[in-house]
Amino acid sequence: MSHNTFGHLFRVTTFGESHGVAIGCVVDGCPPGIPLTAADIQADLDRRRPGQSRFTTQRQEPDAVRILSGVFADEASGRDVTTGTPIALVIDNVDQRSKDYSAIKDVYRPGHAGYTYDVKYGRHDYRGGGRASARETAARVAAGAIARKIVPGVTVRAALIQMGTHKIDRARWDWDEVARNPFFCPDAQAVAKLADYLDDVRKKGSSVGAVIEVIADGVPPGWGAPVYGKLDSELASALMGINAVKGVEIGAGFAAAELSGEDNADEMRMGNDGRPRFLSNNAGGILGGISTGQPIVARFAVKPTSSILTPRRTVDRYGNETEVVTKGRHDPCVGIRAVPVAEAMVACVLADHYLRHRGQVGAGPAWPFPKSR
Ligand SMILES: Cc1cc2nc3c(=O)[nH]c(=O)nc-3n(C[C@H](O)[C@H](O)[C@H](O)COP(=O)(O)O)c2cc1C
Repeated sequence: MSHNTFGHLFRVTTFGESHGVAIGCVVDGCPPGIPLTAADIQADLDRRRPGQSRFTTQRQEPDAVRILSGVFADEASGRDVTTGTPIALVIDNVDQRSKDYSAIKDVYRPGHAGYTYDVKYGRHDYRGGGRASARETAARVAAGAIARKIVPGVTVRAALIQMGTHKIDRARWDWDEVARNPFFCPDAQAVAKLADYLDDVRKKGSSVGAVIEVIADGVPPGWGAPVYGKLDSELASALMGINAVKGVEIGAGFAAAELSGEDNADEMRMGNDGRPRFLSNNAGGILGGISTGQPIVARFAVKPTSSILTPRRTVDRYGNETEVVTKGRHDPCVGIRAVPVAEAMVACVLADHYLRHRGQVGAGPAWPFPKSR
């Protein structure tokens, strides 16, 4: 099963299965001299960790990360810094309950990857889904923590803006609120409603989908590349690659189809800093695959968890029709824990594009150009 690597200059390879000994990643291409300790990475992992509220899976994984290579004490400061060599990170799996899955050993969960893995490879790891398990996303979050350090001027934040049919009120958006509630929701008043709603869904053994918005502030103009390395296409690919994601949009996204040309194109004026100032951001901070200097805005839809208690019609590995009920410990709304994963994926893409940008044009041209040019 190849294709476990993404990125070009900042390159991440993940390994491990949900119910194996450990999961982890190798980050190749991180520049030398960046201070890095396990604690720096742990902070991000703790935000994705399961079992932190009744609204996520009760699997209890400490997700403690160890750095196996790629750092060394800096002579001047004594602090551990990256050496420029591959950084290997490992996270032990400590709370697997493989027997929870014995009932579905030969039966496909509708909406999960068992059938497609089986039909392609002739095998699937029924214990939690193996590589298809979102446990793999812990490794992405660990890599993302390193990516953030490569682009310190950039802030990547995500928030849950819709759960099922319940949308937040964007007028009440408060980034500080995201850290205060178990849903990563930026609207304080929506939290109680979401809690009641998800309690009801959870008690019924059902599940629900969500919409997440990711915003990257501080990306300067010029990152990205035409034609097959567009920043928006690589962001979309990274976000679509998160488990259970079924739709991605950038900026105004699908709503742009309803706008007129006058309303959609972001008008420009000169700002006091000598850079253009855009009067709106329908482009989501990207034009022609290259950043404009505006915030980069992406949104994505996460489907409802496929593992539910209601019996569903399915087939088994031997071609027999049957029904399946998925017991075990599952997230009733996987969109919640997808929030830190999305931040990590966006940070990885931006770190990669920053290094590629630097490699191709260095600091770039001085803009605006003199008239004689
Ligand atoms: C953070 C996170 C947690 C997830 N937890 C579960 C889970 O507990 N049970 C489940 O059936 N699917 C879960 N999923 C989704 C599956 O991993 C995913 O649906 C499956 O691999 C099939 O892939 P696809 O939905 O991307 O096609 C989770 C997804 C994310 C992002």
